Amino acid sequence: MDPVKIIARKRDGLELTRDEIQSFVTGVTRNSWPDYQIAALLMAIRLAGMTSRETVDLTMAMAASGDLLDLSQITGVKVDKHSTGGVGDTTTLILAPLVAACGAKVAKMSGRGLGHTGGTLDKLESIPGFSVSLTREAFIRQVNDISVAVIGQTADLAPADKVLYALRDVTATVDSLPLIVSSILSKKIAAGCDAVVLDVKTGSGAIIPTLEGSIELARTMVEIGCKTGRRFSALVTDMDQPLGNYIGNALEFEEAVRVLRGEVTGPLRDVSMELGAQMLLSAGIASDAEDGKNRLESALASGQGLEKLRAMIAAQSGDPRVVDDLSLLPQAPGRESVRAARSGYLCGMRTGDIGNAARLLGAGRIHKEDAIDPSVGLIMRARIGDYVEAGQELCVLHTSPASDVAGARALLDGAFSFSDTAADPPKLIHAIIEAER
Ligand code: URA
Ligand code: CA
Repeated sequence: MDPVKIIARKRDGLELTRDEIQSFVTGVTRNSWPDYQIAALLMAIRLAGMTSRETVDLTMAMAASGDLLDLSQITGVKVDKHSTGGVGDTTTLILAPLVAACGAKVAKMSGRGLGHTGGTLDKLESIPGFSVSLTREAFIRQVNDISVAVIGQTADLAPADKVLYALRDVTATVDSLPLIVSSILSKKIAAGCDAVVLDVKTGSGAIIPTLEGSIELARTMVEIGCKTGRRFSALVTDMDQPLGNYIGNALEFEEAVRVLRGEVTGPLRDVSMELGAQMLLSAGIASDAEDGKNRLESALASGQGLEKLRAMIAAQSGDPRVVDDLSLLPQAPGRESVRAARSGYLCGMRTGDIGNAARLLGAGRIHKEDAIDPSVGLIMRARIGDYVEAGQELCVLHTSPASDVAGARALLDGAFSFSDTAADPPKLIHAIIEAER
């Protein structure tokens, strides 16, 4: 099929046929469409949009552009979760073991940090010895044995998305609903899950900052996801400030362990419980969200969640003693305080800048080939709504000699807003969008 004709039809606002969409995705995957034609079609899609039928076809064609993982040898419903990306957002490390302890099967493929957002794989690799690459057979065996495994995406998972994502990044076409939806869903479908709970972030650290846009993204993903024959549901949750207080790789693992120990409460725990309840509902284990939360609470209180985490770490060659002795995690040598320049109520944060500050300390990548330092990052000491005195600590940096402390400080200096009048903490859960049946 002639790429120019396909581009022209979308340019003119017409609906592409399934064959035209397949021809495009094949061209992207086989490298027979040059980048300029791909980029032109991406911009046409960004401007003209796609119908839900087109978005389903694009999603399925992208999912089938590489390996489709067959997890049918795993008994039971495989539930997964996916966050659109946040800061201090370590819900997967809490939920994978906790939901598994409640009887669900969690066969999860996770990604690395992207931009200012952290990645589960990088956090897991801060555990001494932990391996995120298992063969398909070992992955399936582990989930059948202990109900949980978290590994890296295989190189051939939705390869069309890798090409499209890289081009979107440099052609101002990232914020297109059909392109975001097909990018995220194609990878979930290729990874072989039966049910997925999406955590769509909204606010200053989110891919779509506005609430209306985030809700529309969540609704569209649930609608398209359910049309592909899987069970998708979504939460829209706050990213106007970091979710947890620990930002960095070993630091976020530490906070997840502390939640599972019952030592840390607050938004990170609350969002985890809401997401976990939806996962148990999707798996057919909980009768409703309340029942799901009760089951999660008892698995947490009894220590079964923590025990499942130890089992997963041991099964993936890591040292399970870290769960009981956090000093076995990599420790950054330096500490520096960031202090409030004035007194007042903390009324806003630039969450993306806080994530980028952690990245400059070495917790994330600036160039895609960069190595990360698992030990560095920062711990937040104040949240929106708190009253702080001038000179009070806002966060503590955990640094190494290679950290760009001045760069991080420059970002953090502009990241906090203060007001003389009381400020409310942001709402945490904005919407729950249930699966279509
Ligand atoms: N995450 C993805 O994987 N793809 C997008 O398009 C946006 C967020
Ligand atoms: Ca090419």
